[in-house]
Amino acid sequence: MLHGKRILLIVAGGIAAYKCLELVRRLRERGAAVRCILTRAGAEFVTPLSLSALTGDKVYGELFSLTDEAEMGHIQLSRDADLLVVAPATADILARMAHGLCDDLATTALLATDKPVLAAPAMNVRMWEHPATRDNLALLHARGLRTVGPNEGEMACNERGYGRMAEPAEILAAIEESLAGELPEGAERPLAGRRALVTSGPTREAIDPVRYLSNHSSGKQGHAIAAALAALGAETTLVSGPVALPDPPGLKVVRVESAEEMLAACQAALPADVAVCAAAVADWRVAGVAGQKMKKDGGGPPQLALSENPDILASLARPGNLRPRLVVGFAAETERVVEQAVAKRARKGCDWILANDVSASTGTFGGDRNTIHLIAGPPADEGSAPDPQVESWPPLSKTEVARRLAGRVAAFFAGEAA
Ligand code: C5P
Repeated sequence: MLHGKRILLIVAGGIAAYKCLELVRRLRERGAAVRCILTRAGAEFVTPLSLSALTGDKVYGELFSLTDEAEMGHIQLSRDADLLVVAPATADILARMAHGLCDDLATTALLATDKPVLAAPAMNVRMWEHPATRDNLALLHARGLRTVGPNEGEMACNERGYGRMAEPAEILAAIEESLAGELPEGAERPLAGRRALVTSGPTREAIDPVRYLSNHSSGKQGHAIAAALAALGAETTLVSGPVALPDPPGLKVVRVESAEEMLAACQAALPADVAVCAAAVADWRVAGVAGQKMKKDGGGPPQLALSENPDILASLARPGNLRPRLVVGFAAETERVVEQAVAKRARKGCDWILANDVSASTGTFGGDRNTIHLIAGPPADEGSAPDPQVESWPPLSKTEVARRLAGRVAAFFAGEAA
């Protein structure tokens, strides 16, 4: 599974560092080559000797070791890796990464890399919840950092809450997922030089400061599409509503809550060559959100007045200078799937629609598979006989749907350039 992959594991100073020994073992069992940087604080928790025995390589520690610099420049360390993994990622190393500090080998390698980075945060629950850590992570996520965990549970400091580092098996799964979309070094990246915008997940429409209207969208399909476009070389912005998924590596993630915020983030991400709207945007928002928590004051349940949300897909597809050359939408239908999707394509003005059959028997909602009909061809309002091209795909995993779509997008632009 990880044969030939090169992982640069950065072990920072936290009690969870001991779990890295198990992680290294499992990575090597799967055929990955692991090289370790151990920070000075990390070396208080695990020894260079145990890491070196498990990696079968020397362990790197000091920035200004002349022999290391001669044998292996610190820039080369990150250049030689397919993925950098920071585990445990302490509050301190996350803060230093967020602000570009580079006063040791670990942070220098992190600043010098253009490879995807996965971090497994581990810290005391109050450090995790501190606004400084939240802000640092928001900044790092926006720059494409991917994280796994932390988990909730008992901590070494006798407290309970979020802060326990993810287990080695979870970190391993995140590493495999991070590398799954990666093309081998030197492989063709047909979307290089193109910009992609993808929406994903649900939106949340506030009722008052503590309540909201939303839906069950998981974001799995949209996130997979963003990752697949990025893997083909597109400079990708993923605008995501609240989801429980890690950020795909190698792209810019903008997190939003409401449909209005999602629209604004999409407009800010333009120009783009291709836009794929996979988000389940709430059709309605609450008109006049209550400024304070609504109370049960005996007067019966409140009446919620709703107003219509902007249609992000339709607004991106509207003719104009900033209209992406290719605008793709989704249509979730339970009956007359193709017929309704064809009508939706005309209504929204987009170029392609991926109609997914969400009738209960398909298990699409929240699941990992999707059954797609791709509606393409000349737009319905152009020419006299708009005969849409309908292509029905077999049931596929959402990752495979994403790969196929990214391949079709690449073929579209290759055809345009020809
Ligand atoms: O109209 P309906 O919600 O069925 O259309 C689905 C398509 O439109 C999806 O691509 C979805 O992302 C997009 N959409 C949108 N903004 C909305 C509603 C839907 O971008 N307000």
